[in-house]
Amino acid sequence: MIDNDPISANRRSWDKANRQFNVIKGDFAESIVNGYCAIPGAILRGLDIGPATNVLHLCCNDGTEACYLSFSKNCKVTGVDFSSSAIEFAQELSTKLNLDSEFVHAEVMEYLTSVESLQDIDLIFLSMGTLKWILNIDAFFEAIRRKVSKRCSILVWDFHPLLECFNQEGIYCYDYPIFDNGYWRDQGVYGYKINAESYEMPARRKFENPPKNYINDRPVYISCWSLGKLFSSALDNGFCVSSFEEMNFLFGEKYRDWMIETEPGVFSHKSDNPVIPMSMKIVLSVKC
Ligand SMILES: C[S@@+](CC[C@H](N)C(=O)[O-])C[C@H]1O[C@@H](n2cnc3c(N)ncnc32)[C@H](O)[C@@H]1O
Repeated sequence: MIDNDPISANRRSWDKANRQFNVIKGDFAESIVNGYCAIPGAILRGLDIGPATNVLHLCCNDGTEACYLSFSKNCKVTGVDFSSSAIEFAQELSTKLNLDSEFVHAEVMEYLTSVESLQDIDLIFLSMGTLKWILNIDAFFEAIRRKVSKRCSILVWDFHPLLECFNQEGIYCYDYPIFDNGYWRDQGVYGYKINAESYEMPARRKFENPPKNYINDRPVYISCWSLGKLFSSALDNGFCVSSFEEMNFLFGEKYRDWMIETEPGVFSHKSDNPVIPMSMKIVLSVKC
C-alpha cells in the first residue's frame, strides 16, 4: 500500500524500525543505574536542570535520553513520540527506574496543538536526529510559542546540517544548503540501532544467532533544515537565540564510514583540517 501522507508514512516506517530495534535491546535500566551516559555533559552544560525542572522531550523515541535525564538530574520528563513500539519501551524503562516521568503516544504537531497548556514546562528538548522529522518548522515553533510561558527554553541537540554536504569518503561535495524542504526516500528508517559497529546502545541482548536482516521497505519523508531557515523560523515565531555551539564530533554514533573514534563513544573526522562541524547545540529562549 502506498501512503501519500508523509506523517502516516513516517509513523509506519518508525513503528517497523522500532519493533526490530526493541528485539536487540538489553537491560537499559541496569545500564543507566550503572552509569551509562546518554547525553554528553557539553550538551547539558549551562542549563539549570534539577528536581524542580519540568522537561518536555519531543520525538523521544524509546525514552533512553529522557529517562537518563530524569534519573541523573532528578527532574520530571514528559516524552512524546508517535511510534507505539518506542513509547511502550520508554514506559517500561521509566517504571523500572521508578522515575517521575511520563510518556505520551502522539504525533508531535497534534500534541502541541491539542495539549491544553505547556505553561509548566521549563525546557523543551529535541535530541539527535529529530529536526529532520519536523515537517513544518514554522508551524512547530509557532505551536510551541502559543503554549509556553516566558521562562521556557528550547534545547536542540542534533546533527549539524553541514554534515550532509560530505560524501561517504568524507569529502565536501554537495553545496550547502542541500535542501530547505523535504524529500521522499524509498528506503525506510535506517537500521542504525542494529549495527553494533556504528551505534552505541546502553545494552544489547546476547543472541546465539543475532538477527541480521534489517529491511525497512516503508518509505519516509524527510526534512533538511538549513541553519538559516532554522534560525529565521525560531526568530519569526517569538524566540531568540541564547547560544549556538557547533561540535566537531558525534556522540555515540559512527554515522559515516570515515569517522574515527577519538575517545570512547566520541566520533570525529580523522583530520582536523578543516574542522567539520558534525553536531550542534542551540538554546532558544522566549523573546520578551
Ligand atoms: C532519531 S529519533 C530521535 C530520538 C533519539 N535521539 C534517538 O535517536 O533515539 C527520532 C524519533 O522521532 C519520532 N518521530 C518522527 N516523526 C514524528 C512525529 N511527527 N511525531 C512524533 N514523533 C515523531 C520517531 O518515532 C523517532 O522515535
